Amino acid sequence: METLRWKNGALELLDQTLLPHKINYLTLTDYREVIRAIRRLAVRGAPAIGAAAAYAVVLAAIEAARAGEEGFQGRLAAAAAEIAQARPTAVNLRWAVARQLKAAERMDGERPERVIEGLVQEAAALSAADAAANRAIGAHGAALLRRGVRVLTHCNAGALATCGYGTALGVIRAAHAAGKIEMVYAGETRPLLQGARLTVFELRQEGVPVTLITDSMAGYLMAGKGIDAVIVGADRIAANGDVANKIGTYSLAVLAKHHGVPFYVAAPFSTVDPGTPGGADIPIEERDAAEVTSFAGVAVAPAGTAAWNPAFDVTPHGLITAIVTERGVFYPPYGFQKQEAGGSEFEVQGSRFEVKETGDRR
Ligand code: MRU
Repeated sequence: METLRWKNGALELLDQTLLPHKINYLTLTDYREVIRAIRRLAVRGAPAIGAAAAYAVVLAAIEAARAGEEGFQGRLAAAAAEIAQARPTAVNLRWAVARQLKAAERMDGERPERVIEGLVQEAAALSAADAAANRAIGAHGAALLRRGVRVLTHCNAGALATCGYGTALGVIRAAHAAGKIEMVYAGETRPLLQGARLTVFELRQEGVPVTLITDSMAGYLMAGKGIDAVIVGADRIAANGDVANKIGTYSLAVLAKHHGVPFYVAAPFSTVDPGTPGGADIPIEERDAAEVTSFAGVAVAPAGTAAWNPAFDVTPHGLITAIVTERGVFYPPYGFQKQEAGGSEFEVQGSRFEVKETGDRR
C-alpha cells in the first residue's frame, strides 16, 4: 500500500487518520492542502512528511507558474517557506523542501514548465532513495538481532511513515524474513494511537507476529516476559546523537537501560541534522490539548481540564546502543558533523542546513 503517489498533476495521500478502518486516498492539488494534511497527520512519519513536502513544492511551483514567468522563483520560495513550517520537529520536512528549492535554483532561467518537470523528477528521486535507504537500514539492523528475538517498538516507523518498507519496521521486516522474530510488541502510542492503528495493521498484513500493549505496560513487559531489543524510528537526530522521536520513546530508553536491553534507533540520513548540536536544540511540537482530553472524539476528562500534549520527546545519546542508518550502524560516541566539502548549504526561514549527503559524517 502506497503512502503517497504523484498522479495526473496531483498528490495522492493515503489518509492515515482513517486507518485501520478505511483506506482512502486524498487528491491534493494545492500546496496549502498538503500543509493541512501534514498538520492533521493524514500523512505522518518523518520521511513521509518529507516526501509529501517535496510534492507540495511541485504544487506551489504549478501555482507560481500560473502567475507568469516574472517573479516565479520568488513566489516559489515564499510558498516553500510556508511548507517548511508545517510541523517543526521532523527535520526531513525542511530537508526535502530545501532540496527542492536547490533544484529549482539550479534550473533558474529555464521556463517554469521545465522547472516543474524537474521538481517532479526530484521528488520522485527523493522518494525512491528513501525506499532504498530503508531496505539498507533493514539489512543492517536485522544483522544485529539473533534468532528468536522479542522486540518492542513504539509509534509507527513503518512503510506508512516512509516511502516504503519502513525504518524500525524495516529492521523488523528484514529480521522476520530471516526467521529471527519471535514476537513484536507494539506500544499503542497515546494520544493518537499510531502503534495500535498503524504498526499493528502493517505487521499483521506482513504476517509478522505482533502483540499490542498500552504504553504503560512496557516496564512490566521488560521485567516479566523479557524483551531482547527496543527498536524505534526518529524525527531528528542531533549532531551529538540525541534523538527526537514520538512521545514515550524516552521512557522506553530509560526502561531499556534499567533492564539491560539494547535500544536501537533506525533512521535514514535525511533525519540526521548536524546543524542541531544536541537534543535541547530540537524544537518539540506541542499539539492541541483536546488530543489528550478526548479519545476518538469522545471526552475522557472533565470539561475544562488542562492538558499538556508534546508530540515528541528527546532520548539522550547515552541511552542509545546504536543508530542504524543506510550507511551502516553507528555506535557511541556519536558525532554527526556538518559536511563542508561538497555540501551545499542554504537557508529557509533563517535555519541553515545542508542538502548534499556524501561520505561519512562521523
Ligand atoms: O507524529 P508522527 O506520527 O508523525 O510521529 C512519527 C514518529 O515519531 C516516527 O517514529 C518517526 O517519524 C520515524 S518514521 C520512520
